[in-house]
Amino acid sequence: MTTVVKIGGRLTEGPYLDEIGNDLATNHDLSPILIVHGGGDLVTRFGERMGIKQKFVTAPSGVRSRYTDDETLQACLMVLAGLVNTRVVQALERHGVQALGLTGADCELVKAERREKILVVEGNRKMAIDGGYSGKPFAVNSGLIKSLFDLKIVPVVAPLGIDGKRDLVNMDGDSAAAAIASGLKADTLLFLSDVDGLLVEGKVVSKVSAAELDGLVKSTGVGMNRKLLSALRALQGGVSKVVISNGKVQRPISSALSGDRGTVIQ
Ligand SMILES: Nc1ncnc2c1ncn2[C@@H]1O[C@H](COP(=O)(O)OP(=O)(O)O)[C@@H](O)[C@H]1O
Ligand SMILES: [Mg+2]
Repeated sequence: MTTVVKIGGRLTEGPYLDEIGNDLATNHDLSPILIVHGGGDLVTRFGERMGIKQKFVTAPSGVRSRYTDDETLQACLMVLAGLVNTRVVQALERHGVQALGLTGADCELVKAERREKILVVEGNRKMAIDGGYSGKPFAVNSGLIKSLFDLKIVPVVAPLGIDGKRDLVNMDGDSAAAAIASGLKADTLLFLSDVDGLLVEGKVVSKVSAAELDGLVKSTGVGMNRKLLSALRALQGGVSKVVISNGKVQRPISSALSGDRGTVIQ
């Protein structure tokens, strides 16, 4: 049973990583497991401290993304590959779980496509702007990941990829996790976020079918809408099940995988 877990950026501060490490250390049947983490809020905070103005854009689908220019890419490298990735590794190592921190550039772990132009919506207007240094993941070095699994290592992946020209690109963590899960044909892709799952009228939806996803993306707010889109891509890519659950609880991974909580999409 292969599992890919995406840890939301807000879980990488405070006590939450410790509980994730504890869960992995005490439930050996969770492996093989790979972790992808986010960290957008920290990039914004440290970027601003470095005097880099942060810009966000909205795609016609309603999905909102960081606009990654050259300087913002540098902030992403420092914060995601440096601070956040190492913190996640530390939390696992503290509990005796062997973890290896990587970005998508290591051994071309995640190849991403950088677009010359992207379509953004501003008010009622759609316009094409320079694509900057953000990329869409499309290929994964699954051989490397499987070798790490054989060594009982938990790969911890920062959402940075490498493109055809060997440029580094920033990726959304949810998209990166979906691409890696598809590349591995993982049994489960688990999104650990700061909410209990997909909420409709304030209540957690416990089950969603793949066919319902398209419609739900349009009616769901920023943040969660991207998880639903990524869930759809993962299911289309051969992942059996996607779960969206809260990472701020006890035993966040094992309780979500046993079906005790969250939204299950299949
Ligand atoms: N229908 C919804 N159900 C649950 N969360 C939603 C919904 N609409 C918008 N959201 C927002 O999506 C957020 C999760 O996405 P995001 O902020 O990108 O976190 P992360 O990717 O780090 O887990 C929630 O904190 C919530 O504010
Ligand atoms: Mg997010």
